[in-house]
Amino acid sequence: SDEPSADAAGPVDPSRAVAVVGTGTMGQGIAQVALLAGHPVRLYDSAPGRAAEAVAAVGGRLDRLVEKGRLDAAERDAALARLHAADALAELAGAALVVEAIVERLDVKQRLFADLEDVVGADAVLATNTSSLSVTAIAGGLRLPGRFVGLHFFNPAPLLPLVEVVSGFATDPATATRAYETARRWGKTPVRCTDTPGFIVNRIARPFYAEALRVHEEGVADPATIDAALRESGGFRMGPFELTDLIGQDVNEAVTRSVWDSFHQDPKFTPSLAQRRLVESGRLGRKSGHGWFSYAEGAGRPEP
Ligand code: NAI
Repeated sequence: SDEPSADAAGPVDPSRAVAVVGTGTMGQGIAQVALLAGHPVRLYDSAPGRAAEAVAAVGGRLDRLVEKGRLDAAERDAALARLHAADALAELAGAALVVEAIVERLDVKQRLFADLEDVVGADAVLATNTSSLSVTAIAGGLRLPGRFVGLHFFNPAPLLPLVEVVSGFATDPATATRAYETARRWGKTPVRCTDTPGFIVNRIARPFYAEALRVHEEGVADPATIDAALRESGGFRMGPFELTDLIGQDVNEAVTRSVWDSFHQDPKFTPSLAQRRLVESGRLGRKSGHGWFSYAEGAGRPEP
């Protein structure tokens, strides 16, 4: 439409619907944030029943906020009345902003956004929560790539304030500004950056994990000692080994691999063989009960 540019750069109006596509870990968290900021929210997931499960899960989280006295029961009821599961992509037609949080695969994301372009209005902002793919590549086949932007939340999205607002090669500056202002309205702390592998946080974190793994592989110190040293240094809440156990060794290794490949296998991002062994043996971290440390039931403090 012919919106004036001042309006185009403001936050998405809270009366307009936000659609979240992909309602797993991240989609549910992002939906909760948009909902509590006042938007009607529509959830879509390609797995049958998954969007309805996400509505129930968000409802459960709002219940806990009410129990803790951090949300009015009336506010929760009003929020839940604005939250709907969609059975088909076509039901997202009226959305002013679509945030995608589906599987981390370029071809699947490109396909989804091509389909979404046929559904939403020309003024809708299309955003991806990708953590390791190129925003530019996801938007590559779109008719209107100017309204496409990266909106990278961190897990858990309702708790962590940071959102990286990522401008791809074709992103219109007004789109990035609108996304930035919307994240601010949602109570987040957005930062703007251009589209490079890993953006800001995931890129700078690579050498942090990689050097810790090398220190361990060289026999300088064991994982528990390295973690304790970093934790006690004052600036880190968790050491690199316990942190990758929390994230998942498989997830962490995949991000390292993706950043390494995207930088044409720059040696400074080379994945670790010790981490590869953990992944191959199924020691994925907390979720599998064992990673660098053991998380067996009743084991007390995690043990190496
Ligand atoms: P997840 O596996 O928990 O959820 C993904 C959901 O997307 C599933 O419910 C799946 O059924 C659905 N889905 C898959 N293909 C679809 C399609 N074509 N259309 C509609 N729905 C589809 O994944 P998670 O962890 O929530 O990650 C989602 C995205 O967010 C990925 O791009 C990931 O890189 C990114 N991300 C993940 C973070 C994390 O810590 N888990 C942090 C920041 C970003």
